[in-house]
Amino acid sequence: MPAVELVGITKRFGDVVANDGIDLSIETGEIHAVVGENGAGKSTLMSVMYGVHQPDAGHVLRDGVRLRMRSPADAIAAGLGMVHQRLRLFPGLTVAENVVIGAEPTRRGVLDTAAASREVERLGELYGLRADPAARVGTLPVGVRQRVEILRALYRRARVLILDEPTAVLTPGEAARLFEVLRGVTGEGVSVVLVTHKLGEVLAASNRVTVLRGGRVTGRFATAETTAQELVVAMIGRSLAPRPLAPPGERAAGPYLLEVENVRVRGGEGPARVGGVSFGVRRGEIVGIAGVAGSGQRELLDVVTGLRTPDEGRVLLAGAPVRRGRDPRVAYVPEDRPGRATAPTMSLADNLLMGGQRERRFSRAAVRERARALVERFGVRAASLDEPISVLSGGNAQKAVLARELSGDRPLVVVEEPTQGVDVGAQEQIHALLAQARDEGRAVLLQSSELSELRALADRILVMFEGAIVAELSAEEAGEDRLGAAMTGAAG
Ligand SMILES: Nc1ncnc2c1ncn2[C@@H]1O[C@H](COP(=O)(O)OP(=O)(O)OP(=O)(O)O)[C@@H](O)[C@H]1O
Ligand SMILES: [Mg+2]
Repeated sequence: MPAVELVGITKRFGDVVANDGIDLSIETGEIHAVVGENGAGKSTLMSVMYGVHQPDAGHVLRDGVRLRMRSPADAIAAGLGMVHQRLRLFPGLTVAENVVIGAEPTRRGVLDTAAASREVERLGELYGLRADPAARVGTLPVGVRQRVEILRALYRRARVLILDEPTAVLTPGEAARLFEVLRGVTGEGVSVVLVTHKLGEVLAASNRVTVLRGGRVTGRFATAETTAQELVVAMIGRSLAPRPLAPPGERAAGPYLLEVENVRVRGGEGPARVGGVSFGVRRGEIVGIAGVAGSGQRELLDVVTGLRTPDEGRVLLAGAPVRRGRDPRVAYVPEDRPGRATAPTMSLADNLLMGGQRERRFSRAAVRERARALVERFGVRAASLDEPISVLSGGNAQKAVLARELSGDRPLVVVEEPTQGVDVGAQEQIHALLAQARDEGRAVLLQSSELSELRALADRILVMFEGAIVAELSAEEAGEDRLGAAMTGAAG
């Protein structure tokens, strides 16, 4: 008998049918991948399974028993746990406190810290999930924080864990450790439902795969018997073009459009976050920034885009200092999209025309016309231009931000993790758009944790480690092993 079974789930939002009669069964102890293009209905289905949304039709069975789910509390009581992508932990509390909060062991009415720590250690031992119970969560890297979220679910006796794009925010090393953890928990009979856009992960880690498209199931596969190609066809209805990306054209020559000179960013106490970094980007080239998370790329890009003033050094754009705040010559697609790049309660149309575009005072009709054209050209899927951008699926919101930023003619394009959370078809499209921006003669600075993305797009890759550029590799030189070695500080 399946651990969880979704039967005929239909969920509508207004006119949008996000889930359309979906059946999904999760076996005990399996890793079940759920894949599909942006807006296919994956997150909606997970929210129905976890009691966040009530379906318009269909129901959820747990060990064959029909659940009555009014809220996640009912799902938790039935042994379901969700690991949210935007982690919901209290940074000021310890690991142990975060794990037990809301269901604390108490002694005479006060939190029994010792018992909480013991429990964290016991669970960690059982599932191969190490985390120091006394560490403050705010000081931990994101991969460890995610482990704390998993521990929290297991502490509440979850036997089915739902993870929606868990590796989108992880470095490759952290992702590898997550999958070790997931193998540990499934070994103990816990089931895992894994939503991801990374087919490599699906093929390496899952037992079975369900593919969604347009709110329906378009494929069910045993992982051992399928291929990436077959999954892609089920996901997007065609195979990906086998062609590699447009190879970098003539090596860009000429003066640097962007010049970063000896930039230093101090890190409060401790060592500098960025310690005297210099480089340049020419028109007509894509320069990649690689590095494990926390190597200073965040701070460096904040300086380049004018969001942060360096403690030393300067940033020039076409010979003039980059303007503080937000320089209108810079197209910027930040990593933390919902927080930094969109106004969540505003409509899609308004979000598409935010910033530089709005200064031109388009009439209302012109705004809509332009927004419509962008949506068309960039393949943003939304029910209407007037719905708040926050209801778009993650990948479609991302495409909307890219559409806005790339549509102008700003000479410098700075992008962080452009394909994070984006489906394979859209990834291809976004890569083509970035290559096009380069071919139009713009200067592109691309930060990505996907080495394959950097290798496919960048003319040169700068590798950061501990706040310094430790290697500069040409596209040809940048093999994964060479890049990986440089990223960990080994001589590049
Ligand atoms: N709260 C909501 N209100 C209105 N529409 C919604 C809401 N949540 C989701 N939708 C719509 O339902 C559809 C499915 O969205 P969902 O978030 O489930 O897709 P997804 O497969 O998770 O996509 P992604 O890969 O981009 O995360 C989309 O068209 C989306 O705009
Ligand atoms: Mg989603």
